[in-house]
This record gives sequence, structure tokens and C-alpha cells, in this order.
Amino acid sequence: MIHPAVLFLALALGLGTQLTTATEVLVNNTEGKLCLYANLKVNFSVVYEAVGDKNATAAFSLPDAVLTNGSSCANSSSTLRLSFGQGHSWTMSFSKGAQTYQAVSVTVDLNLTDAAIFPNATSNKTMSVTVNVTATDLSKAGLGTCYSCNSQDVIQEGGVSQTLWNVLIQAFVANGSKSQEITPCAADVPITPSPAPTNTTTTTTTTVAPTTAIPSPPLPTPPTGKYQVTAEVNRTACLMANFGLRIGFKIQGQLQEMNLEPNGTSASGTCGVNSSQLVLSNSVATLMFTFVNETAKFRLHAVSVNITTGTGPQFSGGNANLSLWVASVGSSYMCNKEQSYNISDSLFFHTFDLQVQPFAVASGKFSTAHECSLDDTTALIPIIVGCALTGLILIVVVAYIIGRRKTYVGYQTL
Ligand SMILES: *[C@@H]1O[C@H](CO)[C@@H](O)[C@H](O)[C@H]1NC(C)=O
Ligand SMILES: *[C@@H]1O[C@H](CO)[C@@H](O)[C@H](O)[C@H]1NC(C)=O
Ligand SMILES: *[C@@H]1O[C@H](CO)[C@@H](O)[C@H](O)[C@H]1NC(C)=O
Ligand SMILES: *[C@@H]1O[C@H](CO)[C@@H](O)[C@H](O)[C@H]1NC(C)=O
Ligand SMILES: *[C@@H]1O[C@H](CO)[C@@H](O)[C@H](O)[C@H]1NC(C)=O
Ligand SMILES: *[C@@H]1O[C@H](CO)[C@@H](O)[C@H](O)[C@H]1NC(C)=O
Ligand SMILES: *[C@@H]1O[C@H](CO)[C@@H](O)[C@H](O)[C@H]1NC(C)=O
Ligand SMILES: *[C@@H]1O[C@H](CO)[C@@H](O)[C@H](O)[C@H]1NC(C)=O
Repeated sequence: MIHPAVLFLALALGLGTQLTTATEVLVNNTEGKLCLYANLKVNFSVVYEAVGDKNATAAFSLPDAVLTNGSSCANSSSTLRLSFGQGHSWTMSFSKGAQTYQAVSVTVDLNLTDAAIFPNATSNKTMSVTVNVTATDLSKAGLGTCYSCNSQDVIQEGGVSQTLWNVLIQAFVANGSKSQEITPCAADVPITPSPAPTNTTTTTTTTVAPTTAIPSPPLPTPPTGKYQVTAEVNRTACLMANFGLRIGFKIQGQLQEMNLEPNGTSASGTCGVNSSQLVLSNSVATLMFTFVNETAKFRLHAVSVNITTGTGPQFSGGNANLSLWVASVGSSYMCNKEQSYNISDSLFFHTFDLQVQPFAVASGKFSTAHECSLDDTTALIPIIVGCALTGLILIVVVAYIIGRRKTYVGYQTL
């Protein structure tokens, strides 16, 4: 008898080889065997009521890092529940037939209090929209195969529009391993060449904004924030991170920069044995840092950033294949000098006065720091050695010349 699933974090360590960022999740049953697999992209466009009796539209994507709490696998039905950000979730339920399985419904629960996604929302409730999808394009898939749909599929209901694409899902996985066989969706089958589905954003791509940008004054050094995550069990700090952060991000090819303001930024997250997570959020940005502990070393493994700039387009980006801030578990990583990191083609971090310890924090203090090479004085050693050698050569040369002179003078007196 299979029972509610064991839950697993989306950023599975080093899984997959594709560079595209997508949301990948594995749900295990109580026996610890894979029972539901999903890899997909979802964009949301949500109409909600904003102050002043206006309707506002929020556009955002399902982040790469999600939690699968609430997912479950049973004999004839299963549920995939992906929760993300400040209390939002996306749920798809499946039913099993004799030869096939199919998606039955999709439910979106959105926390309108989250001002990062729903600025100025009048309601502080959770908006919930359920769509019956049994008769839609999310067609049936053969049991023991993956449902695959690279084409876009738009589901619209109650002011919530969801665009799904690059979908690869297998519900009712048998024997704990994902099938290599796929059932492609009708839209992917190339019988007649059909025009690519259009989305509303493509219409703006032809009008390139004039590049008369006024050079903005350089940002000041960002203030250093002190963030920590406390363990549920004993309410003590289990993850600590101090840093000043400037975020560079590209929206429609235009680089924008902002400093993370520690004042007004809240820290939350989780501490685990193999993986810990720090989530920083304020009214404009939500940042997620995932650290892993592997072979007694920790590193920053994944970063996910969502930025809402007023009413303009939203930025969403990250990388789940990083290897930064590496140090031994039981120590901290420190770098006082400014560091610049290309997180992705469109996301850049500049850190200042950095010190992090994602594992094994004892009594709310940082442990011995492993310093980054820039702070390290060892970089000076080659220079010192070089100067010393040059000096030595000069001395030898001078001594040789003087020696020859003396010898010459000596012979003359004979
Ligand atoms: C992750 O990065 C390493 C080196 O930085 C690279 O060799 C590897 O292919 C990357 N993996 C993925 C899934 O992108
Ligand atoms: C999904 O949303 C992102 C950012 O909001 C946008 O860049 C991308 O073009 C959207 N993709 C689709 C297929 O709508
Ligand atoms: C909804 O969002 C607000 C603000 O971000 C947060 O304080 C609250 O905990 C969230 N609610 C849930 C159910 O997560
Ligand atoms: C939510 O909004 C209602 C009115 O719409 C208000 O009475 C209530 O105090 C609000 N609750 C919170 C937690 O802000
Ligand atoms: C508190 O709990 C965390 C996580 O379980 C553990 O790492 C830490 O050692 C505990 N601290 C104390 C003082 O018990
Ligand atoms: C933080 O913000 C609050 C309110 O916006 C302000 O009163 C306070 O002075 C700020 N603190 C710092 C250190 O800037
Ligand atoms: C890090 O992982 C190792 C196993 O690889 C484990 O023994 C160790 O307890 C973990 N460290 C922490 C602080 O959780
Ligand atoms: C942590 O990783 C080790 C080695 O990869 C594994 O044996 C252990 O089960 C993992 N622990 C958790 C809690 O995931």
C-alpha cells in the first residue's frame, strides 16, 4: 500500500545535463521510491484587485526551486503540489485508467499578501482557482510513459492564465524509475506545419527602445545585511550569512542594478544535513540561496532571484549549477573584498563584506573562516619573492664588477 509521498526538494543535486532552467521535481512514495516525476515551465498572468478600484496584472514564472510538500501517490490517483515563494502553490492531480493516466485538474493558490508579486493588492487572502483539465489539451498518456509537451498550452480561468511548456511528466511511475518512453502531446506531433504559438510579448520585440539612456550615478556600496535562519527544534541559528549585495539583472537586454537593502529584508529558510536554504525577501525582490554539503565541504549550489520593478516587467532568473563559496563544513566562508559573479547571462552579483556559514553553526557565531584568495596575503608572496630575487641578482652583479675591478687593479700594481 503506497502512502503519502516522501517529499523532495526540486534542486536535486547535480541531476540532469540540460542547461535550460526548468522546475524539476521528484516525488517519492513511503518506500522511498520515485512515484511521480515532473519537469516543466509555467508562466502565470494573474489579474487581481489593487487599491483604488483598479485591476492590476501580475506576471511571474514558476521558480526553479519549489517544495513538493503535499504531493502524494496512491494506487489510482496522485497529486503533484509545488509550493513556492510566500505561500503560493500549483497543484496538478492525476487519475489512472486501465492503460492510461491523465491530468484531472490544476489548482493555483496565490497569497495576495505577497507584495513582491501582488503589489498594492486590496485583499490579504489566498486566491484559489481550480480548472478541470480532463477535456483539454493535457491529453492522456500511456501508463509507464512520460507525457511530453514542448509546445505551449494555455489554461485560462478566473483571471488566472497559465502557460505551460517544455512539460515532461510521469505519474504512476512503476518500479521507482522514470520511463524513457514518451507520449507526445498532439501539438508536438509535426503532421502539418503550424505557425508557432504567439504570445503577447513578441509584438513588442520589433520596437527597440532608443538608446538615449541617461547615465545613472553609480550606486553606493550596499549596506551589509546580517541574515540568519533558525532551526525549528531549538530556535538557535543554524545558517548565518552577512553580506552587502548589489544585484545586476537584464530585463529585455537592458542591465539594471540595485542594492539589496537589509532594512526591510526578511530572512527565512531551512537547514538540513545535505542542503540548506536561505530565502531573503522584501517588497521588490525574493532571493533564494541553496547550499549543499558534500564530502564534508559546503558550497553555494543554486541561486534563484525574482525582482518586481514597479509595474514594469518582472525579472526572474538564477542558476542551479553553481559552485561558489566553497569551504569545509564546520567553518565559514569569508570574503571582504568586492566580488563579482556572473550567476547567469542575465544575472550578476556583487558581494561586499561576505561571510557565510550554511551548516554546523554553533552558539550563534561564525566558526573559523576560510578566506577567499583575494583577501589572502599569499597573493603577495610571488611579488615579494620576485623583488628579493631581483635585488639578489643586482647585488651579485655589482659584487662581480667590483671584484673584477679589484683584481685588475691588483695585477697592475705587480
Ligand atoms: C555544471 O557546471 C559544470 C562546470 O561548471 C559543468 O561541467 C556541467 O556540465 C554543468 N552541469 C549542468 C547540468 O549544467
Ligand atoms: C515567461 O515569463 C518570462 C518572464 O516573466 C518571459 O521572459 C518569458 O518570455 C515567458 N515565456 C512564455 C513562453 O510566455
Ligand atoms: C503570505 O505572504 C505574506 C507576506 O509575504 C506572508 O507574511 C504570509 O506568511 C504568507 N502566507 C502564507 C500562508 O504563507
Ligand atoms: C485582512 O483584511 C481584512 C479586511 O479586508 C482586515 O479586517 C484584516 O485585519 C486583515 N488581516 C490582516 C492579517 O492584515
Ligand atoms: C540546534 O539544532 C540544529 C539543527 O538540528 C543543530 O545543528 C544545532 O547543533 C542545535 N544547537 C544546539 C545548541 O542544540
Ligand atoms: C529602517 O527603516 C525604518 C522604517 O523605514 C527606519 O525608521 C529606520 O531608521 C531604518 N533603519 C536603518 C538602519 O536605516
Ligand atoms: C554533511 O554531510 C555529511 C555526509 O556527507 C554528514 O556526515 C555531516 O553530518 C553533514 N554535516 C552537517 C553539518 O549536517
Ligand atoms: C545525505 O547524503 C548522504 C550521502 O550522499 C546520504 O547517505 C544521506 O542519506 C543524506 N541525508 C539526507 C537527510 O538526505
